[in-house]
Amino acid sequence: MLPITNSTFWSYCEKFFSTRLRASQLALKISAICLGFGSLAGVAQAAEQVPVQAPSPEQTQQNLIAKGQYLAIAADCAACHTDPTTKQPFAGGYAIHSPMGVIYSTNITPSKQFGIGSYTE
Ligand code: HEC
Repeated sequence: MLPITNSTFWSYCEKFFSTRLRASQLALKISAICLGFGSLAGVAQAAEQVPVQAPSPEQTQQNLIAKGQYLAIAADCAACHTDPTTKQPFAGGYAIHSPMGVIYSTNITPSKQFGIGSYTE
């Protein structure tokens, strides 16, 4: 094979590949747009087909409990409200030393006697 030294040939190659590259990038963009519209249409169709049903009171209650659990974990309520001696979660008694003195976390269990069980909503 002859060594290719002709600069016209290289410039032709460069032009060829850069055109090809641009074409493939364009094809990629077009397919991304198509996929986007396709999935949007799919979502719209799915939204149309799902029947709307009111949750039962039990389901609502369970959802609320799950939401509360999520929030209690996310806000790390147990960090302060866990009893440091018994390790009982939410039983309180954790001492926070402040310039105003020691503030103890309270018992926030559903216990009517020791916790917040008799609190109203
Ligand atoms: C940084 C520590 C800390 C964290 C975290 C914390 N608490 Fe407290 N909480 C306290 C302290 C201390 C008290 C008591 C304040 C007082 O005596 O005035 C208290 C009091 C309470 C009370 C009042 C109880 C009563 O007897 O009236 C409730 C309810 C409560 N916390 C709920 C929560 C919940 C729910 C979370 C999480 C979302 C949470 N706490 C996170 C420290 C904390």
